[in-house]
Order: sequence, then structure tokens, then C-alpha cells
Amino acid sequence: MAGAALTLVAALAAAMSIVGGEACNQGDLMKWNEACLMAAGNTVELYNLCQEMLQHAPDAAEMSEYARLAARFTNRSYSGTVAAAQRLLAGGSIPAGQRPAYRHCVERYSTASAQMASVMAELASCDYGRLKQRYVDAKAAMESCGRELAAGTPLAAMNAADKGWTTVTHSRYVWAP
Ligand SMILES: *[C@@H]1O[C@H](CO)[C@@H](O)[C@H](O)[C@H]1NC(C)=O
Repeated sequence: MAGAALTLVAALAAAMSIVGGEACNQGDLMKWNEACLMAAGNTVELYNLCQEMLQHAPDAAEMSEYARLAARFTNRSYSGTVAAAQRLLAGGSIPAGQRPAYRHCVERYSTASAQMASVMAELASCDYGRLKQRYVDAKAAMESCGRELAAGTPLAAMNAADKGWTTVTHSRYVWAP
């Protein structure tokens, strides 16, 4: 499975270097459900997340456009989670022992949001070289947040959802290597 994904990345990368001069003209138009099938592979759960992320997407677009929309969705979700964390901290309902974990999450999310902002900008300008590392860093930030949260604390469910969004966004080395 990993081998197949890498082969696809290599094929896309080769195709893009050939069409290099044509502003982001890197592939065929496809329907969002085709894009989601590529992004999710055989994983129904990821397909369902992808469907939710792209429900307002155009009927047909290039893969990189779907990737940009996915990154935008993920960035918005991060922002919602951070706002909730800050509200919960300010409201005083988080036990003292868990407050450092919440603050840690806010800090890690700021890193992840910056990565997603760069992903969006780079996708928009057909600049693919750093995408993979940005996704890896965003995913690591999500996991670092999650590791410190107590089970059942309100932020844990939001962070679990964000991990899913990040994974779908990320599964686009298929989107744009
Ligand atoms: C990320 O989401 C927030 C909240 O919706 C928004 O204010 C911000 O502009 C977004 N960042 C980018 C780069 O779109």
C-alpha cells in the first residue's frame, strides 16, 4: 500500500515537472468523489471525512484545488478547537492539573495552523516541494496535543476530529506530492 502511494507520488511529480511552465496545469479535472477515493484508498472512514470536507467543493476541479479546500477546512477546524480551548481555560472549568495540557495544545495548534496556511499558499502557487513536511509537522502537532489530554476532557474529542481532518488532508501526497 505504501509502495503504491509512493509510485503515485513519483508519477505525479514526474508529470508536474514536465508541465512545469503551465501555471498549475498539473492534471485532469476530476469529481470530488473521485478525489476522495484517491485520498482515502479503501478506508471508508477517511472517505466519509473527505466527503464532509469537500461538500461545498466544485463539481470538477484539479486535485490540487481539492487539496487546497481540504487544507482550508482543516485550518478552520483548528481555529475552532483553539477558540474552544481558550474559552474552556478562561471559563475555569478545566481542572488545574489539566490546564498545562490545554495550553500545550494551544501552542501546538498554532504551529499546525501556520503549516496549513503555508500549505494553502503553496498549493495556490503550485509550489509543492515542502508540502509533505508541512503535513507531517501538522500531524505531529495534533498527536503531541492529544498525548497530553486526559481521556474524556472536552478538548480530546475535538483533537481526535482534527487528527482525522489532518489525515485526509495529508493523504494528499495523493493530492499534490
Ligand atoms: C484559518 O482559519 C481562520 C478561522 O476561520 C481564519 O481566520 C484564517 O484566515 C485562516 N487562515 C488561512 C490562511 O486561511
